[in-house]
Amino acid sequence: MKRSVTDVFCLLLFLLLLSGTVGAADVYDFNTGWMFYHSDEQLLPREYKEHKSIWGSAKAATSDVVWPFTGFHYNEENFRPVDLPHDWSVEDGFYPDENGEQGYRKRGWGYYRKRFFVPSTWKGKHVELQFEGIATHSTFWLNQSLFHHNYSGYNTITMDITPMLQYGRDNILAIEVNAAVFEGWWYEGAGIYRNAKLIISDPVRIPEDDGIMVNAEIKLDGWVVSGYVNVLNDSDRNISPTVDIEIHDPDGKKVDTKRVVPAIPEHTTENIPFSFRVASPRQWSPETPDLYRLKVSMKNQSRVLEEKSETFGFRVFAFHFSTGFSLNGKQIKLKGVCNHQDHAGVGAAVPASIEEFRIRKLKEMGANAYRCAHNPPSKHILDLCDKYGLLVIDENRAFNAGPEWLQYVREHIRRDRNHPCVIAWSIFNEEPLQGEYRGQEIARALVRVIKEEDPTRPVLAAMNGGFFAAEGARNVLDVVGFNYQYDQIDKFHESYPNIPILLTEGASAFETRGEYVTDPEKLICTSYDEEAASWGTTHRKDWETVVNRKFLAGTFVWTGFDYHGEPTPYNNKFPANSSYFGCMDLCGFPKTAYYIRQAQWTDKPVLYAAPHWNWDGKEGEEIDVFVATNVKTVTFLLNGRNLGTFDVDPLTMLTQKVPYEPGTLLLLGKNGDREVVRTQIETTGEPVSLKLIPDRTAISADGYDAVPVTVCALDASGRVVPTANIPIDFAITGPGRNIGVGNGDPTCTLSEKADSRPLFNGYAQIIIQSKSGKSGSIKLTASSGNLKSASCTIKAEDAPKAAIIDGFVKEEVTIADWKVSQPTPEKPDLLFGNDGEISNLAQSELGNELHLRPRYWVSFYTKCETPPTVLAKGGSIRFKGMIGKAEFFLNGEKVYEKKAAAAEDIIFPVPAGAKDIEIVIRAQPDSKGVILLGDTVYVSPVRLKPAGT
Ligand code: GAL
Repeated sequence: MKRSVTDVFCLLLFLLLLSGTVGAADVYDFNTGWMFYHSDEQLLPREYKEHKSIWGSAKAATSDVVWPFTGFHYNEENFRPVDLPHDWSVEDGFYPDENGEQGYRKRGWGYYRKRFFVPSTWKGKHVELQFEGIATHSTFWLNQSLFHHNYSGYNTITMDITPMLQYGRDNILAIEVNAAVFEGWWYEGAGIYRNAKLIISDPVRIPEDDGIMVNAEIKLDGWVVSGYVNVLNDSDRNISPTVDIEIHDPDGKKVDTKRVVPAIPEHTTENIPFSFRVASPRQWSPETPDLYRLKVSMKNQSRVLEEKSETFGFRVFAFHFSTGFSLNGKQIKLKGVCNHQDHAGVGAAVPASIEEFRIRKLKEMGANAYRCAHNPPSKHILDLCDKYGLLVIDENRAFNAGPEWLQYVREHIRRDRNHPCVIAWSIFNEEPLQGEYRGQEIARALVRVIKEEDPTRPVLAAMNGGFFAAEGARNVLDVVGFNYQYDQIDKFHESYPNIPILLTEGASAFETRGEYVTDPEKLICTSYDEEAASWGTTHRKDWETVVNRKFLAGTFVWTGFDYHGEPTPYNNKFPANSSYFGCMDLCGFPKTAYYIRQAQWTDKPVLYAAPHWNWDGKEGEEIDVFVATNVKTVTFLLNGRNLGTFDVDPLTMLTQKVPYEPGTLLLLGKNGDREVVRTQIETTGEPVSLKLIPDRTAISADGYDAVPVTVCALDASGRVVPTANIPIDFAITGPGRNIGVGNGDPTCTLSEKADSRPLFNGYAQIIIQSKSGKSGSIKLTASSGNLKSASCTIKAEDAPKAAIIDGFVKEEVTIADWKVSQPTPEKPDLLFGNDGEISNLAQSELGNELHLRPRYWVSFYTKCETPPTVLAKGGSIRFKGMIGKAEFFLNGEKVYEKKAAAAEDIIFPVPAGAKDIEIVIRAQPDSKGVILLGDTVYVSPVRLKPAGT
């Protein structure tokens, strides 16, 4: 009798409570051990008409009658194992008949199942499940009961599952994800594309996402940090916990502390206010992103109920109708970028470390602001904007006053309001109702919810019309955002001089990295900053609009990075499948626009010349050399000959015609007579070798940390060949895996989950991720035909203890399905694969005491498929507690003999590569006739990792 893997196994999150945190909430990673199935169609409910089924299906815990895939015993043979975050749409290929705005990917329906063991010690605790984002609509069944629906791909879904669990047993969670629907006109990903967590706390608790509200404000007599701690008493007793609140400075030094002992009646919730004065704190800004920490610990007598902390910052900002924007008393321009949430190779399932790479790139470009277009971001993004110093417009596109939508918005604000980086809430992007009474009233409802949860920040919207309508959203907004509409900005400012304004979207200029002509046949756009959408403008014109208007708070360039989908200007022109708008391409390789922005936005001397200098066949022809720079003059030297020194216009910069001749064009950037920066473009030879450039050379072996590695081709003199478009094959050894590849070509339709990727105009990228708990050297090799291959080494380092924030996760799979023989006075024969005899045995659940006559014998039997991790790496099998004597047989071999009857934990190894496992245990009770076989689990290689990283 052979059973499928998941009929037999289930996943257990095993707790190892850290000393010192006993009693406090534990946050467990819920990302591993999922089974997944993708379908173009929705799985239909089973049809049934008999009374028994109808009666049975009308009760709790019977959903499997109608929806078989929600059941414990569903045959998962069509499912495959996946870990979260997971975006199925990037895994598959491109389909010209699919929706091009979503990147020509298959969306459809996805089905996820996860079995997990809940120990009986959790009885009396509060258990909560949290999904940070599932695209797009999701339906949850827990233990065969329809449990929850969610109708957006961007909100955090938090579910109290305490009463629905089976304690001391396996539980089954099944999720149907409908991605056939979508919310945007860009690539949104499909599936559980953000983190999942399981939170176990005392019934007296501080809620995970929004239990602490903290805000630092400057008053006439100095800085005040105030807010509240929300305590939920879900217990049946009145309690007076001791709540200690501490402030720690950016170096971890305690600044101040307070103790409150509130009385909280049973089943009520209290907001416990606090207020501190802090003298001369370090101020948070893009240049000095100093974060303070508020630590809260809640005890009942000596028992710790909760320990939580939140970072916050001291900064004061204002949007002003005549002076734009100020931060900490200084007028600054918002040098912003809009971004969607995907990256090459990984789609919307972007690891936090890749987000970090992207944020670093934006900072290097000189950005000081980030607009989350057009939806609430992942938690990582805001943490990173706090850490690196980017001012955020946090957007929600639930432009709807329905109860569920208002609730999404409320939760969004509560989740994000402590972040010092957030400077405004945006309630919509270009809504057609923006200039109507209805739009005004929907906006009013949203503003009301937002102000209830956060009265400290302005509410704005990204509008592209309706600015002058008598009735419209403008009437209820604190700040008006312009998406383009450059010709209406001045008129609006004249008409409404008291309304602060900014460009919530600017530019929408097109560039294909490394291309210097626009060719609609080839679906490419020039990189001379000449092409833009009809509603937009070039990067230079956009910034000119901003610097020439004191009242304009700044601009948010559409976009920082290219993104999958919305391939404007080549919409509906397959194979163009990703955007052309980015200052950087889909991998984060800079385009000319990046250097233009760097010249506009940073104080360091910038000098960048476009194009490259490989124009074989164009000798003598004039080539336009565009220089992105912020110096005063540039001297051109072609192969040593001085072609002249040219003035730079600070807004349009410099374009100079240079007759092509192979060699070196050297540019000297000067301020007055002083050379402050130089650069050169050179004619290269053919590629002869490859080069790999990892963004970091050490990563954490936590199974999440990931690093992008650039591959490029070099000529015989070691120069990068910017025109190389050659195939590259990758090979990895050691504890790392390839989670995606890209090259920034918006027309490339090769798989992003592959071991190869051609260079596009000189570059490609592979993303390497560590494997959980596996430290060592990851070696990456890139090869291409006869070229000299390249390799690089990335060290996967043990995750430092300090990084383990909330608890340990150890992956275990329960062996749930056992048979037991009738007790016999004689030692029974061994049973191995004898189907007839085995199927006559009774079904047995382990974990219960079995009472026999002393000295009688029984056999326990199971046969099942090995879980994938154990199959690949080996593992062990553990019986948690056994009473009685026993012999253990694994695939016919005796592997262990327990000679004493006293209670003992049994553990024996399972080698890698054994596809099926058959276990027979021949056992005899203790002197009282008791046999106990504790819960039995496969233990895959131990993984220790911080929750949710
Ligand atoms: C805007 C819109 C963005 C994007 C952009 C392209 O109007 O808000 O989402 O579509 O145009 O230029």
